[in-house]
Amino acid sequence: AVRQRADTLLQQMTPEEKAGQLSQLFLFTKPDAAMESRIAKGQVGSLLFVTDPSVINHLQHVAVEQSRLHIPLLFGFDVIHGLRTIFPVPIAMAASWDPDTIERAQAAAAKEARAVGIHWAFAPMVDIARDPRWGRIVEGAGADPYLGSAVAAAQVHGFQGAYLGAPDHIVACAKHFAGYGAAEGGRDYDSVDLSDAQLRNVYLPPFKSAVDAGVGTIMSAYMDLNGVPATGNRWLLHDVLRGEWNFGGFVVSDADAVNNLQTHGFAADKADAAMRAFTAGVNMEMALNKDAYDNLPAEYKAGKISSEQLDAAVRPILETKIRLGLFENPYVDEARAAQVLGATEQKQESLRAAERSAVLLRNEHALLPLQSSGNRNIAVIGPLADSKRDITGPWVFVNKEQESVSVLEGLKQVAPQGTQFTYSQGVQISRKFPSMFDAIFGGDKTPVWTEAEQKQEFDKAVQTARSADVVVMVLGERQNMDGEAASRSSLELPGRQQELLEAVAATGKPVVLVMMSARPLELRWASKNIPAILDAWYPGTEGGIAIANLLYGKAVPAGKLPYDWPRDVGQVPIFYSHDVTHQPEKQGTRYWNEESTPLFPFGYGLSYTNFQFSNLHINHEQIHRGEGLDVAVDVRNSGTITGDEVAQLYLHQQSGTSSRPVRELKGFHRVTIAPGETKTVHFNIDKVDLTYWSAATRSWVQDDTRFDLWVGDDSNASLHSGFTVAP
Ligand code: IFM
Repeated sequence: AVRQRADTLLQQMTPEEKAGQLSQLFLFTKPDAAMESRIAKGQVGSLLFVTDPSVINHLQHVAVEQSRLHIPLLFGFDVIHGLRTIFPVPIAMAASWDPDTIERAQAAAAKEARAVGIHWAFAPMVDIARDPRWGRIVEGAGADPYLGSAVAAAQVHGFQGAYLGAPDHIVACAKHFAGYGAAEGGRDYDSVDLSDAQLRNVYLPPFKSAVDAGVGTIMSAYMDLNGVPATGNRWLLHDVLRGEWNFGGFVVSDADAVNNLQTHGFAADKADAAMRAFTAGVNMEMALNKDAYDNLPAEYKAGKISSEQLDAAVRPILETKIRLGLFENPYVDEARAAQVLGATEQKQESLRAAERSAVLLRNEHALLPLQSSGNRNIAVIGPLADSKRDITGPWVFVNKEQESVSVLEGLKQVAPQGTQFTYSQGVQISRKFPSMFDAIFGGDKTPVWTEAEQKQEFDKAVQTARSADVVVMVLGERQNMDGEAASRSSLELPGRQQELLEAVAATGKPVVLVMMSARPLELRWASKNIPAILDAWYPGTEGGIAIANLLYGKAVPAGKLPYDWPRDVGQVPIFYSHDVTHQPEKQGTRYWNEESTPLFPFGYGLSYTNFQFSNLHINHEQIHRGEGLDVAVDVRNSGTITGDEVAQLYLHQQSGTSSRPVRELKGFHRVTIAPGETKTVHFNIDKVDLTYWSAATRSWVQDDTRFDLWVGDDSNASLHSGFTVAP
């Protein structure tokens, strides 16, 4: 019935109206007469960046009442980690290793978005990132395809609900198809050169997972993939996405990516760019202001595009609008929007997600949780310690800053009565080159300190530490140092933060370091000299409360790293799932000046309690190709408080058609265990887990071979077993 309705409309549409449905425009400010006239003529299918429900309703009235066929507009926005209530950034959510939390968070974000009239989120970003210099590492699930696939599916379910068009839900968009995270040198937008095996075994699985979860749309990426721009790449957008995966939704380009086909030296002019993107499989052009797809009607009339091709591109867009119920209910209830935005329900979800995503990296002598007695004077130090803006991270445009809770504020709310806090910023940090978002939306206007002020503030911070019982330092990166066009060439703590950390530590006071950033910054010195380190990411609106709850033991950390944490930038890229080659164990063969291992491995994270793994059991020693097996392990909480552990299962294929990684994550479960309790965790390994793309055969293979299997609390898991796959 949906297709029939779409086809009935298509039969009545002119080529110009069809091209209109393929056009998406930005609207940052109030609409002008030219924009309204385009909408009234049916020349616009979708708008992005409109978030005011009254403006959305106004423009929807123009589309529905003034356009010839009354086709409603689709409103899209970057609902990356919340709208008004901000959730932890996506990389943080991945660190929760908890698909349920992730789904709940994106469902709450969808509810706020739909309440203002937004129908479509440009999320989840499911790009695998193995180079932390790349700024957009903040938006994905990290380095691993298995974890990334689970997170992708959870996000799609969260945004879209049980079906496309479910009430209080919106359409999701898996982006950026494909390989964007492998940009050369971690430089945003730069070219990507990936073998088919890397692409299929590492970079494509989260997209496939999103498609299997029913994602309604896909965004094509900016960069060249193996010499062919992703937005003009028919192999990717047609052969793989539609041919192999049966994707039935529609593809939108990244902003201005169609025009950019000229910048790549790929398309000769705008019309050529439009033709190349269109025939490759880009349905909708996200245009800045120089839309290439305006050329499509002329190309159609010149016979370069058939009516079947044009209809095939427009149909899934109309079907999406039909499924969302926009023809019946095009408008949004403005009064309800005000009630939904920032409601307690979403704030509680955000707090829960922030507590569940923090990763405890170090905790010597059980410095954490902070004891209520004996810590009456707490120094809170650092450029991010009292920031209500940075705590919400990048990709945040319509929240209310005053609603977010800084770390200092959170500590004051949560600490036992009588605790005294002294705060000192210590240092200022900023980007060398301004951020493009700050240029559009206005950045921080705080005046830069003079040299004298810098010295004074630095000294004041050290003095503050001297007179405290415990110091909480909040260091890392400002929110505009992560995200799009926010790559960097080093991983040092920006500015004079390292110097400040060392000076404060030299006072001899116990220091708790709270890290706020989305990439692994260099902590080599801190990991030896600072007793407690909590990676809090950018935890969102309720971040200050979440961090305070974690520091005071009202919440128990259980997050795990979604990437390997390098010792220094020279080790990048470093990931646990590399292949095993010549002299793998011999020290000095990889670097003569440095270990070849990371500072903290993938999957790592501590708790305030202790867990032991035992009784690893596999139900079959040998299986036949195509069969699966069950694995069980006991996890015991041997401490005195309830906590969560993430049981992780890794596999290594001993021989086969191709070399396989030293180990790969193939299962995980986050479980809550009471003190003294033992829980049995079950994993199911199926054919897909034992299959990979082989460069030798240029096909998917499952080999008859032996597998090693490990289960434990990170990627160095040592509880070992194995099984054989026979023909
Ligand atoms: O959705 C984003 C995309 O991820 C990067 N370029 C701009 C788009 C719209 O804001």
